Amino acid sequence: MTILSVTAGSVPAVTAYADVVSGLISLRGVSKTFGTGADAVHAFGPVDLDIAEGEFLSLLGPSGCGKSTLMLMIAGLLPPTVGTIEMEGRSVDGPQTDIGIMFQDNTLVPWRTVRGNIELQLELRNLSVANFRDRIAMLLRSVHLEDFADRHPYELSGGMQQRAAFCQAMVHDPQIMLLDEPLGKLDAMTRESIRSDLQGLWMQQKPTVIFVTHSIEEAIQLSSRIAVVTPRPGRIDQIISIDLPFPRDFDVKNSSAFVDYERSIQEIFRGYGVI
Ligand SMILES: Nc1ncnc2c1ncn2[C@@H]1O[C@H](COP(=O)(O)OP(=O)(O)OP(=O)(O)O)[C@@H](O)[C@H]1O
Ligand SMILES: [Mg+2]
Repeated sequence: MTILSVTAGSVPAVTAYADVVSGLISLRGVSKTFGTGADAVHAFGPVDLDIAEGEFLSLLGPSGCGKSTLMLMIAGLLPPTVGTIEMEGRSVDGPQTDIGIMFQDNTLVPWRTVRGNIELQLELRNLSVANFRDRIAMLLRSVHLEDFADRHPYELSGGMQQRAAFCQAMVHDPQIMLLDEPLGKLDAMTRESIRSDLQGLWMQQKPTVIFVTHSIEEAIQLSSRIAVVTPRPGRIDQIISIDLPFPRDFDVKNSSAFVDYERSIQEIFRGYGVI
C-alpha cells in the first residue's frame, strides 16, 4: 500500500491520521470471492487496512469494486474468504451489534414515527428508552428534525428520512459507524446540507466512521483519510490524508488545496480507466 501525499497548498496541515500503524479496526489479507469454480467472482482484495479511533475514513471507488462487500465483512455480516478482521483487538466472526450501520436505502419501518423508529434500535438492543431521551432530542436537533419526531416516514422527504436514519444509526452511541452511500439517492442540495450535519455530528461525538462514496468531492470534504479502491477486484493501493482543517464548509471547495486534491484523485481514477 502506498501512502500518497498530495500538495495541500498553504492550508494548515492537520495530519492526525497519516501514519496509522495499528488501528481500532485492522484488516489483514482480507479478500472475498463469491461462488466457486467457473462461476466464481473475485469481488475484493487482498487488502490490509488499519482504521484509527475517531477518524473519518472514506472508501472511494468505482461501482462494483467491492466497497459494500467490505462493509458487510467489517460488520460481521459476511465472512471473508481469506484473511482476518479485528475490531478493538477482537476477531470479527459474527454480526457486530455495537456498531451503527446505514445503507443507501434506509431501514425506517413505515408503521412507526421518527421517534418510534429511533427507539426501535434501543429496544432491539434491550436498552432502556428512558435513559436515551436526551440523546434522542440532541440527535433530532442536530439534523433539524426536532419538529418531525412524531411524524411517520411517509410524511417526510427523502432527505428527511435519511436524516432520521442517521439518528437511528447513532442513537445507541456507537463508537464505530459504517455508512454505505447514505447520501447516494439524494439531490445535490440535500446532500450538501446533510454532509454538513454529518460532519457536525462526527466532530461532536467523534465516532470512528467508515464512509462509502462515489463522489470525490464528498470524500475530500468529509474525510480525514481517503482509501482509493481500484476497480474489481477492489484493492486499496493509495491512502490519502486530507490535510484541511475541520469544519469544512461549502466554501472549502473553492480553496486551491481542495482543488489540488480533487485533481490528484481524478488523475488516479483516470489511470484506472474509470474516468
Ligand atoms: N452476494 C453476492 N453474490 C455474488 N456476487 C456478489 C454478491 N455481492 C456482491 N457480488 C459481486 O461482488 C462485486 C462487488 O460488489 P459490491 O456490491 O461490493 O460493489 P460496490 O463497490 O459496493 O458497488 P456499488 O458502488 O455499485 O455499490 C460485484 O461484481 C458483485 O456482482
Ligand atoms: Mg455498494
